[in-house]
Amino acid sequence: MIHPHTRLATKDLTRIMDLSSHEVMPLIELGRALKADIRPYKNHFAQRSLVMLFEKPSLRTRVSFDIGFARMGGHAVYLDHEKLRIGERETIADYSRNLERWCDCIVARTMSQETITALAANATIPVINALSDIHHPCQALADYMTLVELGFDCRQHQLAWVGDGNNVCHSLMELTATLGASMIVVTPEGFAPSSEIVRDCQARACRSGATLQYTNDINRIHGSFAVYTDTWTSMGQSETAEKAAIFKPYCVTSEIMALAGSSAYFMHCLPAHRGHEVVDAVIDGPHSVVFDQAENRMHIQNALLLNLLTTPTQDSLGKNTTRTSHTTRSQS
Ligand code: CP
Ligand code: NVA
Repeated sequence: MIHPHTRLATKDLTRIMDLSSHEVMPLIELGRALKADIRPYKNHFAQRSLVMLFEKPSLRTRVSFDIGFARMGGHAVYLDHEKLRIGERETIADYSRNLERWCDCIVARTMSQETITALAANATIPVINALSDIHHPCQALADYMTLVELGFDCRQHQLAWVGDGNNVCHSLMELTATLGASMIVVTPEGFAPSSEIVRDCQARACRSGATLQYTNDINRIHGSFAVYTDTWTSMGQSETAEKAAIFKPYCVTSEIMALAGSSAYFMHCLPAHRGHEVVDAVIDGPHSVVFDQAENRMHIQNALLLNLLTTPTQDSLGKNTTRTSHTTRSQS
């Protein structure tokens, strides 16, 4: 059965705040439907192309976008930008205006959020943020899809974040605020989430009824549905012995999981640094759902692609009206 999918109001997914509250749950439901059976979409993106620009390493994001798009009939091209950053060889505007002549969508992992917003502003095709220094929206969508599968109720349950107030934490905060859910963010002093994002989430929480709390006190994770952690040193940051000492009390051990409660799930976006932010007994334990999160990256991204990409007819019309082309664009 082909599932209904409406176009999202946004052209791009630069951050979770690009989505509205009424768009997220249908997206998650579509992700779940695709997980159950993707066969109705096996030729949906035939003759269509996705370009993946990566300034940082990746396992999950790269493989899940590539294989996910291929399972729907599309073709993905990977461009390694680890050495030469996007915008260095030619301007981001020129770069975008080339890519949109061949591709239907840009997936980008960048050092800086500004590169994502510049790509989105310059390209007429959708741009999906595949992680920046500030946001990781695809991860948060996969995580909430996983929570929903586990029975998480936005009106009843709390998600606990333990560790650095980083890009993954920001996207989970924004999604919590969008969905009207509850989240407690536990970070060491000096490593709280961005105050600008805290403000944005507060504004959205006022409308959605979400509760977001911030603390340094690990004991406050009591009663949480799931405990989520991530690396203490994100890609692009430098690791120091001093930082490791500050974070040590926030390593997720069995004792910390017991503080949350005997039924609490353990979550991590991966890659994990075993023995640092989490111990083996927890990540390999019966309540760990880390590989479900990894799997769901593909299903929710497929749902996102179905929602963001227009039909070929709309696409060529859209492109020809938004950019001056002196020749006729080829039809795919
Ligand atoms: N979680 C995640 O984004 O993994 P990768 O860095 O391997 O893509
Ligand atoms: N916070 C991590 C997430 C990796 C998926 C980083 O940015 O490196």
